[in-house]
Amino acid sequence: MLSPADNERLTRVGPGTPMGNLFRRYWLPALLAEEVPDADGPPKRVRLLGEDLIAFRDTDGVVALVGAFCPHRRAPMFFGRNEECGLRCVYHGWKFDRTGACTDMPSEPPDSLFKTKVTIDAYPTWEGGDMIWAYLGPPELQPPPPDHEVLRTSPGHRVVSKSFEDCNFLQALEGGIDPTHASIMHNMNIGDRTFLNNYDSLVAHIHLEKTDYGFTYAGVRHRSSHNWVRGYHWIMPSFHMRAAVEGSFGFREKGDEVPTIDGHIWIPIDDHTTWIYNFMYSHDPARPLSREQAHNAETRLGRGDYLDANYISKLNRSNDYGIDRKRQKYETMTGIEGINTQDFALQEGMGAIVDRTKEHLGTTDRAIITLRQMLFESLDAMENGGTLRAIDPQTYRNVRSVDRIVPSDIEWRDATKDDYVAKF
Ligand code: FES
Ligand SMILES: [Fe+2]
Repeated sequence: MLSPADNERLTRVGPGTPMGNLFRRYWLPALLAEEVPDADGPPKRVRLLGEDLIAFRDTDGVVALVGAFCPHRRAPMFFGRNEECGLRCVYHGWKFDRTGACTDMPSEPPDSLFKTKVTIDAYPTWEGGDMIWAYLGPPELQPPPPDHEVLRTSPGHRVVSKSFEDCNFLQALEGGIDPTHASIMHNMNIGDRTFLNNYDSLVAHIHLEKTDYGFTYAGVRHRSSHNWVRGYHWIMPSFHMRAAVEGSFGFREKGDEVPTIDGHIWIPIDDHTTWIYNFMYSHDPARPLSREQAHNAETRLGRGDYLDANYISKLNRSNDYGIDRKRQKYETMTGIEGINTQDFALQEGMGAIVDRTKEHLGTTDRAIITLRQMLFESLDAMENGGTLRAIDPQTYRNVRSVDRIVPSDIEWRDATKDDYVAKF
């Protein structure tokens, strides 16, 4: 449970808000590389942390991210011409390069110095892992670019996608790091529902440790002869990583499929909507994903039949996420098709910003409680000039997540130690 003021502090992300300022201290995915595939190609609208922006890939192949409105008379830069290393406003022809400098002002006298005095807002970008990352914070505090393991894989080893979620980032993120709902809400084979009476198989024991980048936690399910260990990382400000290797129900390695690491990055569009960047990559540098596996991963991560051309789920609030009440009665917990769609139904249904003054957190909510503590700590550190977690990529570059079944006579931490180390 949070006070109304604390709930506001954690969820508002516009310019000048505490959480908005915190996100602005990190590199964030702003769009997928595939959205601006060509140099001098069409510009693309981007909304990030409540700011309207325009992305375009300039003649050098570098992606620019500038304000959505021309500084002359505020015409929309979306209709601009992307030409010779700059975006030209089509209203009166003022042109801006990727640094925000005005490089041409045909409507002013040729000897006028006015163009040296006018700039458009522009943010630095960095391209990696099929994503265009942007830094929206104070220039003097710009950190080195991100260095997550997925960003070092080659394209044949990974699948990256994004999907729109119609609610505040924090409830989406809290859903993603909650280890317990998976065996209940995502249960696709409810049988006679006796699984709900089996506490030990339903609920993992959580072991959690704070780190320099955020925290790591493991959900361990104890069986007679073995332990099933799922180890996760949460990396500031909103990156979550997990694995699907040995134990995961439903994602078990089949035939020639390569075991994988996957995760999400939750990026606030504004206070009420969120982009989720989804990634999955091969566990093994020597084994790229098979074509079929990449296709299945794309579907599971939300492409294909699930998403429209704007990355919005076709099963959404307007059609009750396609819930099939008969399937819900006899087959699956939710009656809703698709893991991500199930999450969206519950998270979006909480309201645009969940009212955390009315919740009651229990024993399985430890990761969520730690997440909130760490966000509050980070806000305090930022406001007092302290060090922020995960600003330095060295703190997290070598971590990876774990999904292993290990004999119960070996301490699970010893048995999985090597699996926690990045291999790319
Ligand atoms: S409004 Fe853009 S050049 Fe005039
Ligand atoms: Fe989920």
